[in-house]
Amino acid sequence: MASIDAHYSAQDIEARILDALREAGLNPDQRLLPEELAALDHFHTGGYPASLILQDLANIQGSDRVLDIGAGLAGPARMLAASPGCRVDCIELTADYCAGAELLNKLTGLENLIDVHEGSALDMPYSDNSFEVAWMQNVGMNIEDKQGLYTEVCRVLKPGGRFAFQEMTAGETDTSYFPLPWATDPADNLLVSADEMHSLLDECGFVAEYYEDVSDTQLNPPTSTATESTAQSSSQNSPQKKAQAPLSLSTYVDDLALKAENATRSLQEGQVRFVRGVFRAK
Ligand SMILES: C[S@@+](CC[C@H](N)C(=O)[O-])C[C@H]1O[C@@H](n2cnc3c(N)ncnc32)[C@H](O)[C@@H]1O
Repeated sequence: MASIDAHYSAQDIEARILDALREAGLNPDQRLLPEELAALDHFHTGGYPASLILQDLANIQGSDRVLDIGAGLAGPARMLAASPGCRVDCIELTADYCAGAELLNKLTGLENLIDVHEGSALDMPYSDNSFEVAWMQNVGMNIEDKQGLYTEVCRVLKPGGRFAFQEMTAGETDTSYFPLPWATDPADNLLVSADEMHSLLDECGFVAEYYEDVSDTQLNPPTSTATESTAQSSSQNSPQKKAQAPLSLSTYVDDLALKAENATRSLQEGQVRFVRGVFRAK
């Protein structure tokens, strides 16, 4: 885990975020809207539009208590807290990201709906049967013990609770282009195939409600979703209106252009695949 922490660490993230907001023409002294931050804080394949798709697939209601696993800067958590108004717990391994998440929660006035906990998805500090929804975007690629992960997710979900996720899975051939957005080198690129992921989820107490390999849609988006980016980098994903300069993940992700290009090549060449799923806890 030390190497994963090093991969994601971003010193002085709060100052960097505040500078980026000002450069983008946003005023951090006034309340910000979660969607204005979308190009900064949705660090996953497809960006903000992909979060909206997952929200829709999982049919998330305001009354659902949601757990965002590997929440990063908690952009998706703020999206769900703002509408439909969920209470969201975030668990996140990287201390710098937790600090960035807390800052953005305050700047959007959502700190009372979102709790951020620094810790591992493999050992979560929540009681059994706590959540209606567990949400996870582009995190499992860093976790070798998938059985441990899915067992823990199932434990904290209420019976019938939904596990909504999107994930990179292994392709036909080994991954060869590094660094990737989720791994500096092969040691942290812990992928299983889509079929193996499905089997593991079954074994750990889940039933599939929806599961789809959406790699092709990601590579060749229909015109209506053409702004969905392949590699987590697109600042066009943001619906921001007021910004003068685009916000970007590069505020806290080093070598973003290279990582994004490598992710695109890996997907194009079938070294990785991209799946979405909604599974129910039995
Ligand atoms: C690509 S980022 C995705 C962040 C966030 N889910 C999003 O979509 O904006 C992967 C995140 O997973 C976190 N992570 C990796 N392994 C983890 C673990 N074992 N427990 C909790 N978080 C983890 C990393 O620190 C990082 O924030």
